[in-house]
Amino acid sequence: MKVLEIQGGHELKGTIRISGAKNSSVALIPAAILAEDDVTICNVPEVTDTDALSEILEFLGAEVRRASESIVINPRPIENKEIPADLSKKLRASYYFMGSLLGKYKHVEMYFPGGCSIGSRPIDLHLKGFEALGATVEIENDKYVVTANELKGANIYLDFASVGATINIMLAAVKANGVTVIDNAAKEPEIVNVATFLNNMGAKITGAGTSRIKIIGVTKLKGCFHEVIPDRIEAGTYIIAGALMGNYLKIDNIIPEHLEALTSKLSEMKVELEIGDDYLIVNRPDKYKPVNIQTQVFPGFPTDLQQPFMVLTTKCSGKSVIEETIYENRFMHVPYLNKMGANIVISGNKAIIKGPTELMGTEVEATDLRAGASLVIAALMASGTTIIYNIEHILRGYENIVEKLNDVGAKIEIKEI
Ligand code: EPZ
Repeated sequence: MKVLEIQGGHELKGTIRISGAKNSSVALIPAAILAEDDVTICNVPEVTDTDALSEILEFLGAEVRRASESIVINPRPIENKEIPADLSKKLRASYYFMGSLLGKYKHVEMYFPGGCSIGSRPIDLHLKGFEALGATVEIENDKYVVTANELKGANIYLDFASVGATINIMLAAVKANGVTVIDNAAKEPEIVNVATFLNNMGAKITGAGTSRIKIIGVTKLKGCFHEVIPDRIEAGTYIIAGALMGNYLKIDNIIPEHLEALTSKLSEMKVELEIGDDYLIVNRPDKYKPVNIQTQVFPGFPTDLQQPFMVLTTKCSGKSVIEETIYENRFMHVPYLNKMGANIVISGNKAIIKGPTELMGTEVEATDLRAGASLVIAALMASGTTIIYNIEHILRGYENIVEKLNDVGAKIEIKEI
């Protein structure tokens, strides 16, 4: 079994370069199926989630070549067959194969997706979207069978601005006959990145990044070259680490506009930030002001940074309140932070944090990806040594986390026990 061993208390100084966005890449890789020729996607992070999707592509018959940060996908040999449970359950984003296979072949058979246990995470909005486009959805023993004689453009209103549903409906609709309009669409930067990719292939999508996306169906999509945007959640995670332990820590290759909800909260807490065009320098202050946050869809405070951010609030002088509005069960890191010495009480969907508290190294478990990230941050500033178990969750989403942190002064290693 692999664990992370982290010796806390070391200042973070130097530069961390941010990788391509995991949550864009996991949609772009399945979306490549829609092209008729080779697709090259640059800046794809090497994390287990992107590996798992490449494995599904290869299972379907695609040729996938990794050349450092790029992936070249030849979708021509693909055979549309059932995606088995052992592949689909490796991650949440396997559900993007539903939209792309349906869009291309009008038929898909896939077992339920997996992913972090942070709530019930239904995909009813994806399925309703497919149905609105003319497909029928059947559920047979943990397997979805989605079929259409013809996909026809439709007006679709999402009850919730779901990232996954917005992308999956775009994938299914790009080749549908006629015009599709998605209202109350999600506005996350990853959606814009996927729409740009599809447009590079020849799709006609407008409005991505707003709450109304319009898709005019086309008959053919060609190969293309595309670049993944920087990962705003990876960046946010290291910025938070820098707010706690940074001495002029530079976070490079970012899009600062994607991080405004975080950076404005950090400024409110009196964390020193210097924000450039594509970088940010963060310095730990002597004292932190308490703050309240509520997770929201973009451009609000991202749920994916809620867990890492909570570590920072343990250092604030006074009471902070963090309200999680996107997922029902995203506080699984709290018992471990308390075990390390934090004073956090959960009340419904709110966490009440009283600080400042000193954290001490101990044995903890990463229950999901961002819970793992929060424990890494806690361990970096705790006194003594922390051992984190279940690190496979962390490796799903953070490229070279050990190397990146050691390069700026942390003492962190993966150990086999
Ligand atoms: C994406 O998940 C991300 N995952 C998540 O990243 C992220 O937390 C989330 O968007 C919100 O930003 C990927 O991109 C692979 P949603 P997604 O559909 O698309 C409910 C991470 O740590 N809902 O916007 O699955 C759902 O249950 C993660 O990197 C329905 O009820 O999120 C949740 O409460 C984890 N029915 C809320 O909406 C649906 O059909 C938001 O889900 C779809 C969603």
